[in-house]
Amino acid sequence: MSHSESESEATSEALDPWQVKNEASALAQHLHQAGVQWLPKPDPHSITKWSHRFGTAQGSVESEAIVKSSRTTEQELAQRGDLENDQRKQAEATQNMGANPQPTTFYSASSNLGASDPKRRHPPTLEIIDGPYLGQSLSDEARKASLVQLESEVKQCFNCPQLAEKRNHTVFGEGSVRPRVVFFGEAPGADEDRTGRPFVGAAGGLLTKMIEACKFVREDVYILNTIKCRPPNNRNPELAEREQCRGFYRQQLDLLQPEYIVCLGAVAAQELLQTKMSVGSLRGKFHRYHTSKVLVTYHPAYLLRETTRKGAAWQDLQMMLRDAKIEF
Ligand code: URA
Repeated sequence: MSHSESESEATSEALDPWQVKNEASALAQHLHQAGVQWLPKPDPHSITKWSHRFGTAQGSVESEAIVKSSRTTEQELAQRGDLENDQRKQAEATQNMGANPQPTTFYSASSNLGASDPKRRHPPTLEIIDGPYLGQSLSDEARKASLVQLESEVKQCFNCPQLAEKRNHTVFGEGSVRPRVVFFGEAPGADEDRTGRPFVGAAGGLLTKMIEACKFVREDVYILNTIKCRPPNNRNPELAEREQCRGFYRQQLDLLQPEYIVCLGAVAAQELLQTKMSVGSLRGKFHRYHTSKVLVTYHPAYLLRETTRKGAAWQDLQMMLRDAKIEF
């Protein structure tokens, strides 16, 4: 791994969801670059309208699934109270973080929708990652059961044939079901593929030391990756692979709802925050993923090569420890 729809009027024409997603992402990026820090949340009715417009002319499994997932979002939003209230809460949460408010990010929320065209297996829905987590906070038992169920879905996933055919194990993730901190890595390597556990090789050894420096043991935290299968020759995960796997890690985080997420390296940070910015420019401040504070630091494999950067990584972790009021 080298760690280094055009007008807004409703129409019955089917839209290409990927085009909509790409255009929305480009617009969000453009607004961010122009200095726009906040975008209003869409109201639930417009979410439903958009989702209907995502449907294909034939009314395929794909379009039904999108409508279903968007309606779920609408129900969930309604359950949480009106949107104005929600926006006020968001502003308060950001202030409490003492961090720069992050721009609203539109993203493609993949999940296994089972469409027949492999290229369109995971059509995107537009969601926002700066509000509350989408799921309720569950009991430990319910979290465990949901994670076990999700892991069995991961084991049966063949959405990336190139990876699935070669894998020995999927690497779901492990740790506390109620972690204060989640460590988010890139992808399994050879050792992880052999054992089915995350970060057990050389980089894992260093990650374990980093966790212990934070006065935790591995069992206190949760460790997962952007994708669940080892890429051949430890190459970086491709964007399509990250998209295929996105629904899995997002569901994990939705269950875990940690206070902090530590992104290890550029792939993890860029995937979670849906940005193209470098680790260097993302370090040193808290970002946000739903209600979690996100910090970005160097990948342990990079630190094993560039040992002079270990001090900088420790500074990053100290920023979290001070904020979390953890003595070190
Ligand atoms: N590198 C990662 O990013 N994840 C692992 O699980 C192991 C090595």
